[in-house]
Amino acid sequence: MLRLFLALASPLLCLAKLYEDVELLPTISFDFVICGGGTAGSVLANRLTENANYSVLLLEAGPSNVDVLPSIVPFLGSTITSNSPYSWNYTTTAQPGLNGRSIDYPRGHMLGGSSSINYMLYTRGSSDDWDNYASTTGDSGWSWSNVQKYFRKNELWSLPADNHSTAGEYDPKVHSVSGVNSVTLPGYPQPIDNMLLQTTKELPSEFPFNLDMNSGNPLGVGWAQSTIDSLGQRSSSATSYLGPKYIDRPNLHVLVHAQVSRLVQTAQSPATFKAVEFKQGNTTTLHIVTARKEVILSAGSIGSPRILLSSGIGDKRALAELGIASTVHLPDVGQNLADQATIGVYWEVNSTDTIDTLTRNATLSAQVLDDWLDNRQGRFVESILGNFVGWSRLSLDNSVLRGRADPASGPKSPHYEILPLNGIGGLPLPPTGNFFNLVVALLCPVSRGSVTLSSSDPFAPPLIDPGFLNDPLDLEMMREGIKILLDFAAAPTWRKYIIERYQPFPNVTTDAAIEAYIRNSASTIFHPLGSNSMSAKDAEGGVVDPDLRVKGIPFLRVVDGSVLRESAGRQYTSSPNEAADLIKEARA
Ligand SMILES: Cc1cc2nc3c(=O)[nH]c(=O)nc-3n(C[C@H](O)[C@H](O)[C@H](O)COP(=O)(O)OP(=O)(O)OC[C@H]3O[C@@H](n4cnc5c(N)ncnc54)[C@H](O)[C@@H]3O)c2cc1C
Ligand SMILES: *[C@@H]1O[C@H](CO)[C@@H](O)[C@H](O)[C@H]1NC(C)=O
Ligand SMILES: *[C@@H]1O[C@H](CO)[C@@H](O)[C@H](O)[C@H]1NC(C)=O
Ligand SMILES: *[C@@H]1O[C@H](CO)[C@@H](O)[C@H](O)[C@H]1NC(C)=O
Ligand SMILES: *[C@@H]1O[C@H](CO)[C@@H](O)[C@H](O)[C@H]1NC(C)=O
Ligand SMILES: *[C@@H]1O[C@H](CO)[C@@H](O)[C@H](O)[C@H]1NC(C)=O
Ligand SMILES: *[C@@H]1O[C@H](CO)[C@@H](O)[C@H](O)[C@H]1NC(C)=O
Ligand SMILES: *[C@@H]1O[C@H](CO)[C@@H](O)[C@H](O)[C@H]1NC(C)=O
Repeated sequence: MLRLFLALASPLLCLAKLYEDVELLPTISFDFVICGGGTAGSVLANRLTENANYSVLLLEAGPSNVDVLPSIVPFLGSTITSNSPYSWNYTTTAQPGLNGRSIDYPRGHMLGGSSSINYMLYTRGSSDDWDNYASTTGDSGWSWSNVQKYFRKNELWSLPADNHSTAGEYDPKVHSVSGVNSVTLPGYPQPIDNMLLQTTKELPSEFPFNLDMNSGNPLGVGWAQSTIDSLGQRSSSATSYLGPKYIDRPNLHVLVHAQVSRLVQTAQSPATFKAVEFKQGNTTTLHIVTARKEVILSAGSIGSPRILLSSGIGDKRALAELGIASTVHLPDVGQNLADQATIGVYWEVNSTDTIDTLTRNATLSAQVLDDWLDNRQGRFVESILGNFVGWSRLSLDNSVLRGRADPASGPKSPHYEILPLNGIGGLPLPPTGNFFNLVVALLCPVSRGSVTLSSSDPFAPPLIDPGFLNDPLDLEMMREGIKILLDFAAAPTWRKYIIERYQPFPNVTTDAAIEAYIRNSASTIFHPLGSNSMSAKDAEGGVVDPDLRVKGIPFLRVVDGSVLRESAGRQYTSSPNEAADLIKEARA
């Protein structure tokens, strides 16, 4: 371990000017105070401090990302997903749709937020998703064509770690080499790549090859694009937007180990909250900082509604039951939470060259890590995922959808994400065997849940209810999704490779058996959103307007995944700087 530390520490030591201790803050008054130094918060802190006249304080509950090896080495990311200091140890409430199970619900707890622990797939969504945001909010700024310039400001298209020729693996026309956050194609070939490509040739109508899934039309199967740099390192919102080029800006102040408890009301009618209360480090002492211009919440789909509710901003009656005084009655805070359920099918395969062999063998893993440390090469330059991703739709003629509104945002919007893995994921690793694993996620759930408080203590864990598979349509869509995985693996190219289906998935005999498997085994693909939904300025429901201002409260915005709504755009990409730039423009 010492060797690892030295190898990493020397180049990184000089990077960051971060405050580890609140006593070191030079002042307690800033132009902007951003709560949450995650994916969105780091982008905002960067963009706002481009203007030297603005001082910004970024408050992050978790530690710094600097030198955190499992966050840097892409393959090791999955080792800190849950039960680590870098992840909030959330679990959901018992989910009726999952046979009463309560499941792990990770969110990043460090600078860079979930972009410091996620699986790094870079996906912009479909043009339908964005156009749908524009039409439902009445703000054309959110349309696919109008967000292009922000995708380009964000993206720094880079050579993959192995510098292989990438011709035919993407469409250069839809990418940018002038942004901040690195995006690359896979930097290490995987043994199943050829069979995945062959599947698109053998089953072209169901699984067509898609040259570039970030063109606005993601449908099909293509090479994965990831927020990984040309040295095979994670490019998170923190490594990029708070990287060495920016962290020393004199107007930027980043305080870690600082967990916000609530917003402090600074004026009545209209109720105004230009101060923030937080605890820092190992003490329970509460501190207050003030914002001259605005407070921005970027604490994510769970964290941001949590802070609003603890501040008395939410449903008056629900807050009263917890003994929290209502400050602003805004009933949708924490409501409309939606997430994408996921499940896998596993096959035992006739190969020893899968990640099962690697993860089972500590000696081999150490050798592969050495290759990463010494050369920034080898299997560890990629996450545990495969080098391809698929996006597919259920036919509207399928009996599940016949006569219903399409749950996706339009004809170019997939119902499913398909992840092929060269090895087992999502199950405890069996002592022997090698596997092929196809994972499907339902991208357009119609079920809705909520984030609510469990007590008036702002530091008590919230109640997270994503409402998984509560609506029968979601269960049926998942069931059909599993059939799509079976279609995929039935392509002739897999015949010699696959030996047999591996448990726990039962032999397919009936729809009921598949549904039982889903209820028993489905989990999250980590994409909660909607808990502070954005809606049109004059709309009744919703929490923020299209400029992301909290409705009815001046000088307060929410900028993170919580403002997005399901079925009208899935997820922010790993770097939602679009919103940051919209804010900047709104201010100008
Ligand atoms: C394991 C995992 C894998 C994923 N894989 C992918 C993927 O491959 N591709 C993809 O596009 N998306 C993926 N996602 C989703 C994606 O990472 C998130 O949607 C996105 O990062 C959310 O950004 P955000 O800014 O809304 O929140 P976050 O990035 O989670 O940021 C919130 C920040 O606020 C901090 N915070 C919370 N509460 C407080 C408080 N009270 N005080 C101070 N700070 C606080 C948190 O510690 C965190 O740093 C994945 C997510 C996870 C968890
Ligand atoms: C910063 O403030 C100065 C003095 O008020 C002003 O002249 C300048 O235009 C401002 N810069 C920006 C980028 O707003
Ligand atoms: C989560 O739990 C692990 C132990 O399982 C602990 O080390 C870590 O500090 C916890 N994370 C947080 C954010 O509390
Ligand atoms: C990558 O490969 C190209 C073409 O083979 C070559 O011109 C370039 O110098 C290489 N770059 C790096 C960083 O190795
Ligand atoms: C907090 O406590 C931990 C464990 O006791 C210690 O390692 C760390 O240095 C402390 N942090 C601060 C800021 O005092
Ligand atoms: C695995 O492949 C080898 C070599 O092609 C073949 O001899 C063997 O029969 C296969 N095993 C199984 C279980 O299919
Ligand atoms: C583990 O990997 C090492 C290094 O590649 C190899 O020598 C050894 O045989 C492997 N062990 C097992 C049990 O496969
Ligand atoms: C699955 O089907 C095969 C072949 O019919 C049978 O041998 C096997 O026992 C079945 N497995 C389960 C778990 O039912």
